[in-house]
Amino acid sequence: MSDGAVGVLVSGSGTNLQALLADGVPVCAVASNVDGVRALERGRRAGVDAAAFPLDRHASREERDLAMAEWLSEHGVQLVVCAGYMHLLTPSFLGRFPNRVINIHPALLPAFPGMHAIEEALAAGVEVTGVTVHYVDEGIDTGPVIRQEPVPIEAGDTVESLRARIQKVEHRLLPEVVHRLLEDELRSVM
Ligand code: GRF
Repeated sequence: MSDGAVGVLVSGSGTNLQALLADGVPVCAVASNVDGVRALERGRRAGVDAAAFPLDRHASREERDLAMAEWLSEHGVQLVVCAGYMHLLTPSFLGRFPNRVINIHPALLPAFPGMHAIEEALAAGVEVTGVTVHYVDEGIDTGPVIRQEPVPIEAGDTVESLRARIQKVEHRLLPEVVHRLLEDELRSVM
């Protein structure tokens, strides 16, 4: 992959995006399904092109995803990283980046997929949860796992304290995995 080949999809605060930028990941575009989120601002502040593709500005989900894919391609994106992106991607988007869309999830998949992974792990009383980086397919957090790291749940943990420990792991793991994928890709074309 060439320099600046990473596009990041975001919906919220963008702390994982910040970790990618801080670790020197060559991010060249940031896209969101929500206007005005902090993550877009973080991208712009780092000098990266950032744009929102809200559903209400497009005829359908497919059409929105196609427009977003087109915009990312125009920026030279070859690897797409979902970092807190809270919408399912349609086949029209995934088809544009085959095996090149990854996601970070705050649980040890296949346990606790979906939007409330941290709350559900805590409520289930498991002793260990964690972080998963995986390829994205059409399901909810169902694609092949690339890397996982456990995070033990401690006595007295709240959603907030557990989230803080999980995010600390995320911010180290995601840049590591992305650098690794970029290096593997470079090796395969050399
Ligand atoms: C992260 O915990 C990630 O695992 C989940 O959404 C959260 C995004 O946080 N998919 P941020 O926007 O990167 O701060």
